[in-house]
Amino acid sequence: MSELDVTASILCIDDEPAVGVILEHTLSRAGHRSVLVSSVEEAMRVVARTPVDLIVADYRMPGLTGLDLLAQLQKEGYRIPVIIMTGYSSIEHAVMSIKSGAIDYLTKPIQAETLEIAVRQALEVVRLRRENETFRREIVKIRGRRTMVGDSETFRRAMEVVGTVAVSRATVLLEGESGTGKELFARAIHDQSPRADEPFITVNCAALPEGLVESALFGHEKGAFTGATVRSAGAFERAHGGTLLLDEISEMRLDLQSKLLRVIQEQEFERVGGHQPIQVDVRLIATTNRDLKAEVNAGRFRDDLYYRLNVVPIRTPPLRDRLEDIPRLVHHFVTGSAELHGGTPPTIAPETLEILQRYPWPGNVRELANAVERAVILCRGEVLQPTDFDQQIRDAAAHPARPAIVPQAGSAEAADAIDYNLDAVERLAIDRALAATGGNRSRAARLLGISERTLRNKLNVPPAVSGA
Ligand SMILES: Nc1ncnc2c1ncn2[C@@H]1O[C@H](COP(=O)(O)OP(=O)(O)O)[C@@H](O)[C@H]1O
Ligand SMILES: [Mg+2]
Repeated sequence: MSELDVTASILCIDDEPAVGVILEHTLSRAGHRSVLVSSVEEAMRVVARTPVDLIVADYRMPGLTGLDLLAQLQKEGYRIPVIIMTGYSSIEHAVMSIKSGAIDYLTKPIQAETLEIAVRQALEVVRLRRENETFRREIVKIRGRRTMVGDSETFRRAMEVVGTVAVSRATVLLEGESGTGKELFARAIHDQSPRADEPFITVNCAALPEGLVESALFGHEKGAFTGATVRSAGAFERAHGGTLLLDEISEMRLDLQSKLLRVIQEQEFERVGGHQPIQVDVRLIATTNRDLKAEVNAGRFRDDLYYRLNVVPIRTPPLRDRLEDIPRLVHHFVTGSAELHGGTPPTIAPETLEILQRYPWPGNVRELANAVERAVILCRGEVLQPTDFDQQIRDAAAHPARPAIVPQAGSAEAADAIDYNLDAVERLAIDRALAATGGNRSRAARLLGISERTLRNKLNVPPAVSGA
């Protein structure tokens, strides 16, 4: 039963044969299958045996009443909607039925038309309920994938920067080891931006074959190259109005870097094999797990493109620098895995958390997520034990290469991470934008996604012509 007019299985309960005949006749004319019984006991046997979409039941019957039926269904965990039929003068029965969970009531004598309407409405409610449940499960899944967990100082500061830069159009460079959540950060920037309802498009520069990156970014005209049988829109076009994530930008070929730089400068490009310039409004976010500055120094990355991308840098901290986030992350992944594979999530033994906080997690959060998922699947009891995890993780915990001490804010380790002070971040972004544009304030302002006046204010530069 997925549509309104689809056949439903309806169980009718009435001790008066005459009423039963009317019910059966009306329901079959409306295209439904119906089963008629004359007592609650019989009805309970039917629902135990066959799927029933809806029950139409008399309130007053010699043995158990309609109210008893509602109670029994509830007690045994059935969620079948029930329409109760009551005598014309017994409105209090109708009220009681609704209070006990009936979806609707009908007064006797039953009229074919009112019955049909009540049945149709009840079935629609069931359909919506099911649809709702499906959506809810989907949403839980999607949210789970996007939820960012962590409340270590390091993590919170990075999230604060996300919140600040999200509102602007400024290009963000996310630098961090693989598995530290760069894509998740990028998604969070988009989700918190005024572009949240517009597209979020990702191009992974490392995963695509070299020859395909260009057409993936800019699209191509029909016949542009062998195999280009139709015109295709590239990521820049599809991201129009929204955000384009250039994932693992360090892997982009030098000639494409030049092309990308031109697009960023001019906000327009051509499809491969095309001549028509296409204008787009796209906010760029790039990620890299290599040190991009070092790539520049080694001549593998264009320094002008680097400055263009590095307007607001955010460094995603490795997991070993925020071990205090591990308990929450483990909890998050345990719940997620249990949801995915069904079953109640196991609880987590304190020893388990202890060893997980001693392992250095070279693959960062991604490695932790995989390890936890595996452990949940292998876990035999109700408690997640250290033995549910790989030997390698337990061994490392027994002989930690480095003490499991989290660097304190202000320590040497924290100092080489980005300065998270918001004013400092803003100042840095402005300096970089100015450097990238050779000191051109109007272009720098555009890069930063603010007006030139705002930029002048921030720089404490008086306007060219004073109005006073
Ligand atoms: N703070 C976090 N909270 C919850 N899940 C996270 C977090 N950081 C990363 N993950 C998860 O870890 C995996 C790797 O994240 P991803 O963004 O792909 O990392 P990267 O792009 O840096 O390699 C993903 O499944 C992601 O959902
Ligand atoms: Mg990634």
